Amino acid sequence: MSKNKTKFYDFNECKTEFLFESDAEKAVLKEALRREQKPKIRKKIIFNTILISFFVVGMSLVLNNYETNELKNIQASIQKINNNKVLTEKMNNYSENLKTVNNNYDDKYSVIINKANPINEEFIKNYKLVTVENNVYSGILLEEETYNNYLKLKENLLQRGYYININSGYRTFNESKNIYNSYAIEKGESYAEKYVAKPGTSEHNTGLAFDFTISNKKNSYKTNYDSDEYFYLENIAYLYGFIIRYPKGKEKITGYSYEPWHLRYVGKELAKYLKKNNLTLEEYYE
Ligand code: DAL
Ligand code: ZN
Repeated sequence: MSKNKTKFYDFNECKTEFLFESDAEKAVLKEALRREQKPKIRKKIIFNTILISFFVVGMSLVLNNYETNELKNIQASIQKINNNKVLTEKMNNYSENLKTVNNNYDDKYSVIINKANPINEEFIKNYKLVTVENNVYSGILLEEETYNNYLKLKENLLQRGYYININSGYRTFNESKNIYNSYAIEKGESYAEKYVAKPGTSEHNTGLAFDFTISNKKNSYKTNYDSDEYFYLENIAYLYGFIIRYPKGKEKITGYSYEPWHLRYVGKELAKYLKKNNLTLEEYYE
């Protein structure tokens, strides 16, 4: 049998040349090839299996994480809706007790303004507005007598090392409308209706009320409502004609939640009477 040259075969990445002497030799070579290729195929299968396993585990981790986050988001949304619902129901209860009062508009400082007792824009023209000076926010306006008494209150607090600052004073009807609308967009119409005063039902529309911060540090504009400075202010505000308009525990009477930051000017005499008898304006007019 004549010698016959084969092609090159690749064993262990080395090119080797074989010469076939016989069919028997061919069979031996074939068997050698099969043996060489078997571990290679096995390695490939193991490698691919590991790769696929990694892929499957990786994908399931990604999907699992995605599902967990989705679930968390859904749970947070449900919680938010429930919270708003509870608050809305609570505020509905608050408003049940509000009564319409015969306001005496001749005494502009004792008027009661709430959801049941709106004030009209014509009457508001009787209030003279002035600019609040030396405040961290500029451009805030207050009713003139309210402002003069605020300055005296501020001086008293300064003597003790306490610093008061106004965040929000007079608001136009339009500003009240914008505040109401932004709450309605963010928290929903029913929430806004129960929580924010609509134009004409906010004391801010008169300039007789303002929101403030008080601190024992000069440039701090946060309030600690359990602090000495807050306790002090709460107890001397009446001397200057001011009341904490929405006290804790009187939510159902005032129609609003506890707002320790909201002071209302009612005049010295009435403020003293309300403080002494622990009354809100609603209770006074009952
Ligand atoms: N937050 C008070 C009630 C107001 O909007 O006037
Ligand atoms: Zn306020």
